[in-house]
Amino acid sequence: MPAAKNKPFLRVLAGEDIGRSPFWFMRQAGRYLPEYREVRATAGGFLELCYRPDFATEVTLQPIRRYGMDAAILFSDILVVPHALGQDVGFTVGEGPKLEPIRSAADLEKLSITGLHDKLAPVYQTVTNLSQALPAEVSLIGFAGAPWTVATYMVEGGGSKEFAIVKKMMMEAPQLFGRLMDLLVEATTAYLARQVRCGAEVVQLFDSWAGALDEAAFEQWVIGPTVRIVSALRAEFPDLPIIGFPRGAGILYKKYASETKVTGLSIDTSVPASWAASELAPLAVVQGNLDPVSLVAGGEAMMGRARALRRTFGTHRHIFNLGHGILQTTPPDHVAELSDYLRSAGA
Ligand code: CP3
Repeated sequence: MPAAKNKPFLRVLAGEDIGRSPFWFMRQAGRYLPEYREVRATAGGFLELCYRPDFATEVTLQPIRRYGMDAAILFSDILVVPHALGQDVGFTVGEGPKLEPIRSAADLEKLSITGLHDKLAPVYQTVTNLSQALPAEVSLIGFAGAPWTVATYMVEGGGSKEFAIVKKMMMEAPQLFGRLMDLLVEATTAYLARQVRCGAEVVQLFDSWAGALDEAAFEQWVIGPTVRIVSALRAEFPDLPIIGFPRGAGILYKKYASETKVTGLSIDTSVPASWAASELAPLAVVQGNLDPVSLVAGGEAMMGRARALRRTFGTHRHIFNLGHGILQTTPPDHVAELSDYLRSAGA
């Protein structure tokens, strides 16, 4: 990757202070935008939207046109990987994802990495389209779910609150669970490497359910697989910026940063910004962590918090983002007000 690229987001990830924190918002494309809902209705199902490069390109660009973020994130979903491995995955409106659960060796045998790139070809096409369509100063982020988080959906068969089924498998059948995780490490690495070859300039690993694990399990199943993915990607792309998001990791964010050697660390709302600025910023560029609900509230609830974050982090080693994804009930005008503020230089 040419280090000289004059893109604010890449420069800050490379450690430069450009006098402003670049910004983007997790889930910046999505149902809070009327133009997304329109494309979504035309596409039919949600997976159909992810697998149609023309539609996926369009919805990725929609928030950039409106708000001028410093980075665009590929429009797709973390669950295209289990789908490409051969698992049945469905999205029903209002219910979240539903998967045919993997609970036994026989279930695992049905999955295969062989057709991965063929099935994900439309996603790679979207990345290629975006790398050509984006404004010159906007960076392109590729992404995948981290193995632990993807495994929770694969084993539970959908979203979960307690993670009792997947954690029981992890505890009682560590070999079976380990084989599933090995498959996910291999698939995720191959998937992200191909995104980079198609033009993704940064990749983010979403480990949304990292906070469900105790310390030992966190080390084994969050840090361990992430280390393997990061080192495999760095072997091929030595300068690739990689952002990790072990949501809910608490003080384990520190161990995650030092052991995985990610370039950027996306922090959730529960992490004190002052602690992140002093303890995490020396280890990685910190990304976060405005409460997404403050964008629903708007006004001083949002702007007061945004100003406080800018005061705490300054402009050095900070990417402005949310602690988690934009909520569906967010008024688009609030996102506009916040974006205008963030584009203006200085802390
Ligand atoms: O950030 C972006 O704009 C890029 C697109 C993106 C989506 N999902 C689109 C999406 C990204 C980066 C994701 C990641 C993702 N998907 C995560 C990790 C981040 C997080 O939020 O914790 C997870 C856990 C998933 C799995 C997933 N996908 C769930 C649980 C759901 C249903 C929840 C809901 O809001 O309905 C999805 C569906 C989904 N992924 C939607 C979008 C825009 C909504 C689907 C729709 O339009 O009907």
